[in-house]
Amino acid sequence: MASANALAHPNIAFVKYWGNRDNELRLPSNGSISMNLDGLYTRTIVSFQPSLPYDELIVNGHEIAGKNLDRVSQVLELVRRMAGSKMHAEVMSENNFPTGAGIASSAAAFAALALAATRATGLELSESELSRLARRGSGSAARSIPGGFVEWQMGTAEKDCFAFSIAPPDHWDMVDCIALVNPEHKKTGSSEGHAIAGTSPLQGARVADAPRRLAICREAILKKDFEAFARIIEHDSDMMHAVMMTSTPPLMYWQAITVEIFHAVRTWRAAGLAAAYTVDAGPNVHVVCERASAGEVERRLRELPGVGDVLSAGTGGPAQIV
Ligand code: DP6
Repeated sequence: MASANALAHPNIAFVKYWGNRDNELRLPSNGSISMNLDGLYTRTIVSFQPSLPYDELIVNGHEIAGKNLDRVSQVLELVRRMAGSKMHAEVMSENNFPTGAGIASSAAAFAALALAATRATGLELSESELSRLARRGSGSAARSIPGGFVEWQMGTAEKDCFAFSIAPPDHWDMVDCIALVNPEHKKTGSSEGHAIAGTSPLQGARVADAPRRLAICREAILKKDFEAFARIIEHDSDMMHAVMMTSTPPLMYWQAITVEIFHAVRTWRAAGLAAAYTVDAGPNVHVVCERASAGEVERRLRELPGVGDVLSAGTGGPAQIV
């Protein structure tokens, strides 16, 4: 039996990944930039066992079958091919953040899986190779392999489509205050969403403009220019949701409270409390600010009627073996 145990953080995108130029290989239509979320993590133990007739997946103590197991098996299959092995694996995974909290668990999950599975078979992949492998399970997982502030370049082909750090976690002490909002409907998953992004007439413009947004966001992070950072991340999030809303079928992830938080954050910022919002494929609002403002931002978010809880996370490190 060969096993390894790895930990990875989820991440929040500042320039979003939405739509693929190749859904099978998860080659994105545009590059993206994110920050890993410290304190939140998935821990995964992978053990390859000669006696297993098929792969097994256990998440938070529950055995998982169907589509989620298939997705894990696809990544394990890539690892088996690289290692020249035929053994099946038992994958045991635990998240320390609530699954129903609307924080994408697939990024942390597939980053931890890629690292644990390759180490369990004795493979020592480079960071970019691991990022490419994690990408095959979930696109955003490519960004949970490196640490701190991360850019996932779209590349020209499978080989150069990976993520790398643009700044370490201690470069800028940022906090993501996640305002949890109750979803009214079961949401459409990201994978289905990526597949219909191209049906929106706005997606072409969004993709064509991505290099501009990436450059502004990258520079704002490197210079720690919060005002420029705030403007670009809100703009990018709004653009992605404009595409979602105008896809066929339309995807409307926002609730009334989601929009109320946007207005509140902009009012606070105009009055001197530096904070900015961004939203993924759900109704929760990520309000990003510098550490010094985090206590106040959290307190104000909690006061808004309709906000259930607020989870806060600083800037996290890379995926690692534990
Ligand atoms: C809105 O990485 O979850 O969070 O590749 O199908 O697993 P799959 O999609 P996923 O998409 C993330 C979408 C997003 C934006 C982002 O994180 O960049």
